[in-house]
Amino acid sequence: MRVLVTGAAGFIGSHLVDRLLADGHEVAGVDDLSTGHHRNDAIDLWRADVADPALADRVAAFGPEVVCHLAAQVSVRVSVGDPLADARTNVLGTANVLEAARRAGARKVVFTSSCAVYGVPDTLPVPPDAELRPASPYAASKVAGEVYAGMYSALHGLDHTILTLANVYGPRQTPEGEAGVVSIFTDALLTGKPTRVYGDGGQTRDYVYVLDVVDAFARATGSAASGLRLNVGTGVQTTDRDLHSLVARAAGAPDDPEFAPPRLGDLPAMAVDASRTRETLGWRPRTTLADGLAETVAWARSAQAGA
Ligand SMILES: NC(=O)c1ccc[n+]([C@@H]2O[C@H](COP(=O)([O-])OP(=O)(O)OC[C@H]3O[C@@H](n4cnc5c(N)ncnc54)[C@H](O)[C@@H]3O)[C@@H](O)[C@H]2O)c1
Repeated sequence: MRVLVTGAAGFIGSHLVDRLLADGHEVAGVDDLSTGHHRNDAIDLWRADVADPALADRVAAFGPEVVCHLAAQVSVRVSVGDPLADARTNVLGTANVLEAARRAGARKVVFTSSCAVYGVPDTLPVPPDAELRPASPYAASKVAGEVYAGMYSALHGLDHTILTLANVYGPRQTPEGEAGVVSIFTDALLTGKPTRVYGDGGQTRDYVYVLDVVDAFARATGSAASGLRLNVGTGVQTTDRDLHSLVARAAGAPDDPEFAPPRLGDLPAMAVDASRTRETLGWRPRTTLADGLAETVAWARSAQAGA
């Protein structure tokens, strides 16, 4: 099948490209390389802005059956500082990708959302039909993308699945990303720099390994999960303090972070319930946090050695 991946040069997108190629698909990518790096010469990567109206002609020329839309402004903090720039990429860019997919006659768009859409939820792990309570421009832009994807299904019959990702980690993640804490700790602990935990270290997140995440994308490109929001996470909450200990152990470094005051706007706790994802796609996370962190540290060590 022919698949277009937006954000193909990014952390998750580049792993998805590798997975789709390994599955025998014909893949093209679009990315403006604002944060991504071109890593795979086996695909045609167009350097373009997803909000550029000229995108539609290129997409039509490629003729994808499925578009996996991952390109985004990914930082909550950047979105608070410049909400218009965030909306330009994440809202206008998504509308543009959906329109390009429709005009190209694509069957389906897989839209990448974030557990940030749930804000401070009533229950943990959060089910995929929980109320959406976006608490940042980034989260609001993801909600807008979800609504647009649903609208394109209703109006034009362009199928979609929404994958709502927990905190993704793994090789190729850079410390600047939305959930870069694993790579921040890894980078610092391997180079002997100080590490910092905010608040009392009790804030929790749901860490899911990037190869498990791209497995969910690969499964979502089929006809299952039509029109659904699916959570992609482990359901397990890990505190910042415990995460530090786990990364320190994997890196063979001292487990001795500095503590800093809590940051305004940080959500206290998050984990997502992926049972609907298991029921509809047969997906489950296969990588334990200890194994995933070991892979991540090994990759960072070799990247630093090669730098
Ligand atoms: N990493 C996580 O924990 C996480 C969690 C929830 C959701 N997500 C979502 O997953 C997707 C991928 O995120 P990632 O972690 O791989 O981040 P990333 O920054 O590595 O990837 C995003 C890619 O999009 C590209 N991009 C940015 N603006 C663009 C534009 N205007 N036009 C074209 N390309 C553009 C960047 O160059 C980059 O390669 C995003 O939609 C993000 O919101 C990520």
